[in-house]
Amino acid sequence: MYKINTNYQKLPGSYLFSNIAKKVNAFTEAHPEADIIRLGIGDVTQPIAPAMIEAMHKAVDEMGDAKTFHGYAPDLGYAFLRDAIVAHDYQARGCDISADEIFVSDGAKSDSGNIQEIFSVDNRIAVCDPVYPVYVDSNVMAGRTGVYDANTQMWSNVIYMPCTAENNFVPEFPKENPDIIYLCLPNNPTGTTLTKDQLQEWVDYANRIGAIIIYDAAYEAYISESNVAHTIYECQGAKTCAIEIRSFSKNAGFTGVRLGFTVVPKDLVCDGVSLNGMWARRHGTKFNGAPYIIQRAGEAVYSDAGQAQIKEQVGYYMNNAKTIYTGLKDAGYEVYGGINAPYIWLKTPENMTSWDFFDFLLEKANVVGTPGSGFGPSGEGYFRLTAFGSYENSVRALERIKNL
Ligand SMILES: Cc1ncc(COP(=O)(O)O)c(C=O)c1O
Repeated sequence: MYKINTNYQKLPGSYLFSNIAKKVNAFTEAHPEADIIRLGIGDVTQPIAPAMIEAMHKAVDEMGDAKTFHGYAPDLGYAFLRDAIVAHDYQARGCDISADEIFVSDGAKSDSGNIQEIFSVDNRIAVCDPVYPVYVDSNVMAGRTGVYDANTQMWSNVIYMPCTAENNFVPEFPKENPDIIYLCLPNNPTGTTLTKDQLQEWVDYANRIGAIIIYDAAYEAYISESNVAHTIYECQGAKTCAIEIRSFSKNAGFTGVRLGFTVVPKDLVCDGVSLNGMWARRHGTKFNGAPYIIQRAGEAVYSDAGQAQIKEQVGYYMNNAKTIYTGLKDAGYEVYGGINAPYIWLKTPENMTSWDFFDFLLEKANVVGTPGSGFGPSGEGYFRLTAFGSYENSVRALERIKNL
C-alpha cells in the first residue's frame, strides 16, 4: 500500500494569504458597499511595458511559422537571455559570473522552494524571522525542520534569526552554526536591507563555517541606496558560498507570465562534487524550460527601451512607497522599509497584535494589509503594506489611515 509524505501534514494551518482572503470575503459579504483598498498581497498592478509586449508578439508570430518555430527550450535557458543576464546583472557590476552559471527558470518561488533538494536532509537551515514562508515550508516538506511548536510558531530544527527594530532588521550570526542560510535582500516582508559591508560579513561568516547562503534577490530592482549590493557576488568570496535567486516578477511585472533565474557558481564544490553540476542535473530532469516567448520578453528587459520602461515602473511603485512611508510617519506611526524595497513595515499602534490591527484597518478604513505575525513570530506587532497598488489608491488608503 502506498504511503504519503507525512511531512506535508506537519505544515501548520492554511496559507497566510488564504486566511486574509477569507476574512476580506466575509467582510465584503457583510458590507457589500465597502470600497476596499488592497495593499496586502505582493503582486504588481502595472501592465507589462511595451518593449516586452512587442518582443512577446514577435515571438508569438515566430511560433506560428515552421521556419522560426521553437519547441523545447534548452534546459538551462536560451543563450540570448543568459548572455544578456550575465552582461547586465553581473559583468556590468564587476562580477565574474558566466553564462553556464545561470539557470533560467519559471520564477524565484520555484527555485527558492526547490533548491533545498540538492542538499542532505541532515542540514540545518537558518532563516530570518520574519521570513518569506517558502524557505521554511519547502524544508518542512523535505523533512528537514524537526517538530513544530504551535505556541512559539517555531520548528525545533530551524535556526531563527530575529529581525526587529531592536537590531535594525540586521540578522545576527546565530549561536549554533547553520549549514544553509537563507537571506532575502532587499527583504520581504520588512522592506529593509543590509549594506554591502554587512552582507560581506555574512559572506565571510559562511565561508568561515562552511555554510551555503541561498540569496533571494527578487527585489534587487528597488535598491536606491548606493551602499547596498545589487548581487551577493559583489562581495569578495561569495562565489564559494552563495547561490543567488532572481526574478523578473517585480522588476518587469512578469508575475503572470513567469520568468526567473538562479546563479550557481562553478566554484561551489562540496566534497569534490560541483553544485552547478547537481543543479544542472536537477534542472534537466525536472524542468523543461521557460517558454521561448517569455524568454524573448526577458531578453527585451535588457534592451535600452526595456531598461528605461522598467525603471519608470519601479519608480512609480517606489513613489507609492515614499508616499505611504512619509504619510504614516507624519501620522505618528513607527515605520520601516520602503527605501530599497516596495514594502512598508510598520509597528502596530498601542501594542495591538498584527491580526487585531488587520481587523481594525479592514473594518475602520477598509484597507487590507498583511499581518506581520504571518511571516514568523518576530513579525508579531508589525504590519506590512505594499507599494504595488496604484498611486491613487496608495494616497486614498493613507488618507483613511490618517483619519482613524
Ligand atoms: C522574497 C520573494 N522571493 C520570491 C518571490 C516569488 O517570485 P516569482 O514571482 O519569481 O516566483 C517572491 C514573491 O512575492 C518574494 O517575495
